[in-house]
Amino acid sequence: DKTQQDAEKLAAALAAVKHVKDGDVVGLGTGSTATLAIQELGKMVRAGLKITAAASSIRTEVLAKSFGIEILDLGSLSVIDISIDGADEFTESLDLIKGGGGALFREKIIATLSKNAIIVTDASKKVKKLGAFTVPVEVIPLAYQYVFDQVAKLGGKGILRQADHKTFITDNGNYIIDADFGLIDDPAKLNISLNQINGVLTNGLFIGLTSKVIMSDGTDIVIFE
Ligand code: A5P
Repeated sequence: DKTQQDAEKLAAALAAVKHVKDGDVVGLGTGSTATLAIQELGKMVRAGLKITAAASSIRTEVLAKSFGIEILDLGSLSVIDISIDGADEFTESLDLIKGGGGALFREKIIATLSKNAIIVTDASKKVKKLGAFTVPVEVIPLAYQYVFDQVAKLGGKGILRQADHKTFITDNGNYIIDADFGLIDDPAKLNISLNQINGVLTNGLFIGLTSKVIMSDGTDIVIFE
């Protein structure tokens, strides 16, 4: 249930922040689990930990600053020491679907730059095959119908993400198509096919970008690496 899931998220977040060291540039994720890690990092910073950080979304930036965490310009960085982010689904081979919160593009940049990309989750996120959760595809607005048609050719049923009865707009000013491909046999191939469509900024399949998943099952911390 929800309370159990919240306890798992907190346990995973607390285990992850232990990997952060003085002097680290830290990539901060987006979503409820990443938020718990950011709150804990805020406490550690108040207790004297010296870090700088890059934020994967505007709301994460606002949150981190409220805890006194110094935020760097993501675009100026070539390497991030450690990042902590959530996921919507993961497999034991460390492939992920992300972007349920709409922050997939900056999250992907942060994961790509991270020497140690840590994912924190509750037990509900672990799957045998990705795809029960739809794949978010971030699309430049003026290309959205074209991208819809191409997604359909790849076998995906897309819907344009809505928020408060309006088209959802990402931090980058784009739309998101949530695409249902059913269970995905070859996520690495689908990732490439989606990213090759003109007008797609990126998609929520994270392949080979994760160093470690820290999951709590309510009793134990389980590590996949
Ligand atoms: C944000 O865009 C997502 O990638 C989140 O990391 C993902 O939705 C997980 O969020 P929760 O930690 O809230 O489940």
